Amino acid sequence: MPFPAPAPNYLSMTAPPPFDPRTFRQALGTFVTGVTIVTTLDTAGHPAGLTANSFNSVSLDPPMVLWSLALDSTNLDAFRRAPYWAVHVLAAGQEQLSVQFATRETDRFADVRTTEGPAGIPLLEDCAARFVCRAAFEYEGGDHAIFLGQVEAFEQTTRTPLVYHQGRYAGVFPAAPAAAPASSITALEERGLVERTRGRLRLSAEGRVIAEGFVALAESDTATLTAHETAALRHLLPLLG
Ligand SMILES: Cc1cc2nc3c(=O)[nH]c(=O)nc-3n(C[C@H](O)[C@H](O)[C@H](O)COP(=O)(O)O)c2cc1C
Repeated sequence: MPFPAPAPNYLSMTAPPPFDPRTFRQALGTFVTGVTIVTTLDTAGHPAGLTANSFNSVSLDPPMVLWSLALDSTNLDAFRRAPYWAVHVLAAGQEQLSVQFATRETDRFADVRTTEGPAGIPLLEDCAARFVCRAAFEYEGGDHAIFLGQVEAFEQTTRTPLVYHQGRYAGVFPAAPAAAPASSITALEERGLVERTRGRLRLSAEGRVIAEGFVALAESDTATLTAHETAALRHLLPLLG
């Protein structure tokens, strides 16, 4: 089936190579990811690691995962030679840890609690999930090296994962099953929970504004809430008690 004609809000779909790096990055940034920290031990026995969102699952049987590392990374040699590495899926609230492991010329492991994994690799605590991997393959991937690892052990916690989208940290936001009709907004207005101001919603309780301007609504009475807006309301309303 041919690719559908570009919708009016598609950004430069037809740009021929060489791509403009900025718009290429933006297009890639539409793919929402989690955030991981990959760790290992370098040949001198020092802990090494970096923040990476290129992590992905590959195979269930055998269990395999991958991630990619920039060829200009100071960590390249460590990961090329490492028999083991570990991927830590960060949890909501661990943005600072992500920044720390993406910053050069800093002691990335400062104030970070670790335990020892196979071959002495540092394992971080309190993440959403952790995958301890035996290095299996390295592939060439343009200006990155792609590392495939066989998962030898993993752990999962109940912590909600951190999300990364278009260069920003975000949170998990489950989609609502269906759009709610405008009448449900009216019902909320009648209860004094929601106020419509110039096409936006304001939630307040006991005279205090809880949230404002988080959803744009058409002024028309026939407007319906999108699944996203309904999800926002569903999350916010319990806060109103
Ligand atoms: C959210 C996020 C995701 C990143 N993902 C990757 C990645 O997948 N691969 C990579 O090589 N660098 C990635 N980086 C950049 C590295 O964390 C960091 O810039 C790099 O480690 C530079 O230091 P180094 O030369 O010591 O490795 C990412 C940075 C951030 C903030």
